[in-house]
Amino acid sequence: MSSSPFRNRYRDSPPAGAPGRKRSQFTYRHFNQMASYNPSCPLRVIAHLDLDCFYAQVEMVRLRIPEDKPLAVQQWQGLIAVNYPARAFNIGRHCTVTEARKLCPGLIAQHVATWREGDDKWAYRDDAAEHIATDKVSLDPYRLESRKIMTIIKEHLPSGNLQKVEKASIDEVFLDLTAHVHAVMMERFAELKGPEPYGDVNEELPMPGVTALDWKADALVDLGGGDEEGADGEFDDPDWDDVALLVASEIVRNVRGVIREKLGYTCSAGVSRNKLLSKLGSAYKKPNQQTVIRNRAVRHFLSGFKFTKIRNLGGKLGELVAQAFETEAVSDLLKVPIEQLKLKLGHENGVWIYETLRGIDTSEVNSGTQIKSMLSAKSFRPDINNAEQATKWLRIFAADIFARLVEEGVLEHKRRPKTINLYHRHGNQTRSRSGPIPARTLNEEGLFELAKNLFRQITQEGNIWPCSNLSLSVAGFEEGVSGNMGIDAFLVKGDEARALRSSESARTSSKEVDVSTRQQPAAKRRRIDGGGGGGIQRFLTKREPSQDTRPAPEDDLVRKNGGETTLGTSKTYVASGAGWSEEPLPEEAQAGSRRSPIMTHACSRCDANLESTEELQSHLDWHFAKDLQEEERVSQAFANRQASAAASNPRVGSQKGSASASASGPKKSTGKAKKKPERGQSKLKFG
Ligand code: CTP
Ligand code: CA
Ligand code: CA
Repeated sequence: MSSSPFRNRYRDSPPAGAPGRKRSQFTYRHFNQMASYNPSCPLRVIAHLDLDCFYAQVEMVRLRIPEDKPLAVQQWQGLIAVNYPARAFNIGRHCTVTEARKLCPGLIAQHVATWREGDDKWAYRDDAAEHIATDKVSLDPYRLESRKIMTIIKEHLPSGNLQKVEKASIDEVFLDLTAHVHAVMMERFAELKGPEPYGDVNEELPMPGVTALDWKADALVDLGGGDEEGADGEFDDPDWDDVALLVASEIVRNVRGVIREKLGYTCSAGVSRNKLLSKLGSAYKKPNQQTVIRNRAVRHFLSGFKFTKIRNLGGKLGELVAQAFETEAVSDLLKVPIEQLKLKLGHENGVWIYETLRGIDTSEVNSGTQIKSMLSAKSFRPDINNAEQATKWLRIFAADIFARLVEEGVLEHKRRPKTINLYHRHGNQTRSRSGPIPARTLNEEGLFELAKNLFRQITQEGNIWPCSNLSLSVAGFEEGVSGNMGIDAFLVKGDEARALRSSESARTSSKEVDVSTRQQPAAKRRRIDGGGGGGIQRFLTKREPSQDTRPAPEDDLVRKNGGETTLGTSKTYVASGAGWSEEPLPEEAQAGSRRSPIMTHACSRCDANLESTEELQSHLDWHFAKDLQEEERVSQAFANRQASAAASNPRVGSQKGSASASASGPKKSTGKAKKKPERGQSKLKFG
């Protein structure tokens, strides 16, 4: 039994179920529920894995750089990922390359790969940093590694119904391990096999015949001092929920080991009963560690956080709650009676927040993630002035989008987009044209031709130079062949066929969608704020992914970020002046979107719920650009508000943070404006 993490202490004690034995707080029914991923099963086990300094690790592995060397990933003059040795020098994402080199002269700064105007392949280039005007960042290397990681995880876990994996961002996954753990527990613990006494599934299980669980190197969140210890404390024998978490943590340790062994990457993990807690857990100890939040530790664990760190409470929502109750501390809000929460936030939201603060979260791990549209864009600084330049960019966009379509399985006819849109900005004026994508043009060259065609249509209007932004997007994804449907089902039909038959120049049936001016920053803000009636109530009742609070690049941001965007969205967004406006898709395409399952991916930094990993990634990129922007441009008023907020609540002031967004982005309630402490520098303190 020495290799087992369980030590049997009951060798001489009464057999399971015998009179005099304390019984478990869980029933046979609870245990059975594990096999079907019942989200209200109290023995659920969910893990969250997050790669350590992901882009930095990708570069280190690619360039075979020893692990102790400080390295950062550079984008123009900024840093987008910093490895842990470099963090030891106080280098963070807030630094410019110059500042970082001052802090650590030996720093290796590797620029991200870029597309270059006129080229049709991305590449790592030594001179990329100086080519913000002609280059566009490619995150393809990281996407590719991300896919490899996903594949390895899926291969490692048992197949079929015992596996539930959700890609939550480019470097994160959720695993619902409940059914898997159930299977392992059935094998290891004869007492769980039943039959249940009196044939009643509501009978309590016997206590586990083990105690003193061996958590190996896992970080266990402690239980806090004082009163908790007695009721539900460390000295109580482990119950089946602890055992389930222990089994899960073994699985997670193995998964991490395989990723490490096969790809060389380390990651950190959180293991707990739900997504909310596991996500907090994976960030709790980094790098290369896993944190287990046992049910008995949940309360203490959460009470140390600002609630704005909790999934879905990070942005506007959290801010509104903070305003309503004048605090950001979970511990403060825990004292607020549910009636009062309901009174101020509405019934549904009051209940939701009440539960969330207590670590209750029944949201499910969704294994299907479906991209609904893709966008490739560049804002030009300086503006471009002729069709030749524009065409070079259209080629890049087509190549960029096609590469991602290949990843989506377009070559295997799994999915395909049905519409293509080109957006153009000239001064205050935006124009866009869209049309169907005939199946036969679904290749890089075909997309390029379609894009040029749309561009010609825009050109015909005249007065289009100089141009400050071009964006190409595809949308209206349709599932490909399934069952015995042949490839024909995937080929030209209906509108597309008609479009194909029509004249050369009309291959893309055009439609003017948006000509707007720049003087309308309020439009988007209204959408974000839930303005137009309802105020807080209206906002709070919409936690649905369809409520898009996603920000988009704006002029200033775009300047800092090199003016580029790579999105996968459920809707196509086009920049209109200072904000972005929503462009209606052709009806057909919208119907296609509706058929797809809705996936939500919550941003860890604000409350935005995004519908795809691509979208989330690009949203993170947006945060990043915003971070950089804030370094320089945060208003004094805002900064002062911060300072006073922090001063009034020092207890929660040391959270590891992230920079806030601007007025039109998803606001952080903390509004932390300046240098954020890096992971590893400030550890959360418990107990
Ligand atoms: N990213 C970014 N800009 C941000 C946030 C994230 O470009 N504002 C990118 C980073 O380059 C990063 C990846 O997304 O490598 C994952 O982000 P995150 O998990 O937040 O950070 P890591 O760099 O992986 O660092 P950690 O070890 O703290 O997870
Ligand atoms: Ca990470
Ligand atoms: Ca992450």
